[in-house]
Amino acid sequence: MRIGVLCSGGDAPGMNACLRGIVRAAYQYGDEVVGIRHGYQGLLDENFHIDADGNLFMGPRSVSGLSRIGGTILYSSRCLRMLQPEGVEEVAAMLRKRKIDALIPIGGNGTLTGAMKLQEIWDGQVIGLPGTIDNDLRGTDYTIGFATAVNTAVDALDKLYDTAGSHHLMFFVEVMGRHCGDVAIYAALASGAEMVSVPEIDKPIEVIIARLNELKKLGKKSVMMVVAEGERHGGAYNLLNLLKEAGNPFDARVVVLGHVLRGGTPCPIDRILAAQLGVAAVDALHNGKTGVMAGTIRGEMVLSPLADCIADEREISPDLQHLLSILAR
Ligand code: F6P
Repeated sequence: MRIGVLCSGGDAPGMNACLRGIVRAAYQYGDEVVGIRHGYQGLLDENFHIDADGNLFMGPRSVSGLSRIGGTILYSSRCLRMLQPEGVEEVAAMLRKRKIDALIPIGGNGTLTGAMKLQEIWDGQVIGLPGTIDNDLRGTDYTIGFATAVNTAVDALDKLYDTAGSHHLMFFVEVMGRHCGDVAIYAALASGAEMVSVPEIDKPIEVIIARLNELKKLGKKSVMMVVAEGERHGGAYNLLNLLKEAGNPFDARVVVLGHVLRGGTPCPIDRILAAQLGVAAVDALHNGKTGVMAGTIRGEMVLSPLADCIADEREISPDLQHLLSILAR
C-alpha cells in the first residue's frame, strides 16, 4: 500500500512524533510512505519530502529522533483551494497520478473537513488524525499538541504570577484555541488563575466586575484571568478596556501568548498519544477503514466518522467549571 501523509492547518507539537509512528507502523506492513510537504497545497504543487539519502519513500531512519522535535518536518499550510469542490477534485487527481492508495491528514477542524470532502469523491482510503493545540475536535478526549500547549501556557502564567504579586496587578493572559476554550480553562485550573473567559460561556461585563470586587474584598492583591482568543468580548485587549470603563478595581495589563503555544518540544503525553494514533491509523487502513478519525476516549483507541469529529460545538465540562469556581477564592 502507498500511504501519503500530510500536516495541515496550524502546526502542533507532536506532529513529528505522529509521523514517526505512521512510518514505523507502515514499515512493519511493508507499505510505502510518501511525506507530502506543506499540506494539501503542497500535494497540488507536487512538493514531497525527500530524505537525507535522497529517498522519496520514508523509512524508519528518515524519522529517527523525531518524537522530541516540535513543529513538523513536513511543514504545514492552510489550503484555500480545498474550500472549493474543484480543489478537492484536483487533490484527488494528484493522489491518483502519484498512485497513492491512502491518505493520512494530520490537523484540526479545517484539515479534517477537507479529508471528509476528499473521502466522498476519491476511491482511496482516508484516515484523519487530530493534530491541533485547540482540542476542538470530537472523537478524542485530547488532540495531539494540546497538552504541550497547556504546559507552555502554565509555564508563562507561573512567571506572570511573580510580577503580578510584586506589583499588585491584574493580568489578562490571552491564549489561542480558536472557538474552543479548553486551552484557557486547563491553563487556568493548572496555574491557579482566579478567572477565565471562554467562548462557550457568556459572562457579561457586570458579572465579571462583581466578581473582581468580590476578589478585592477577599483580600486579593493581584488577579490572573486567562482569556481564550475566541471569547465573546473580543479577546484580552477588549476585555481590559471594557472592564476599565466599568470600574475594574485592579490595575491591569495584557499578555498575548499567541503562537508561542504552538511551538516547543512536545511533552511526553503528546509524544505517546501521537505515536499511538499514528500506529492506529496505519492499522485502520489495513483493516479496510476509511472516512474516520483515530482518537482515544477514556484511554481506549476509537475510530469515529470524520463528520462526527468536526461538529462545531464542544462543551466545557461542568466539572471543570465547578472546580474552578471552588479553587478561585
Ligand atoms: O488552530 C490552531 C491555531 O493556532 C488557533 O488556535 C488559532 O486561532 C489559529 O491557529 C491561528 O492561525 P494562524 O497561525 O493562521 O494565524
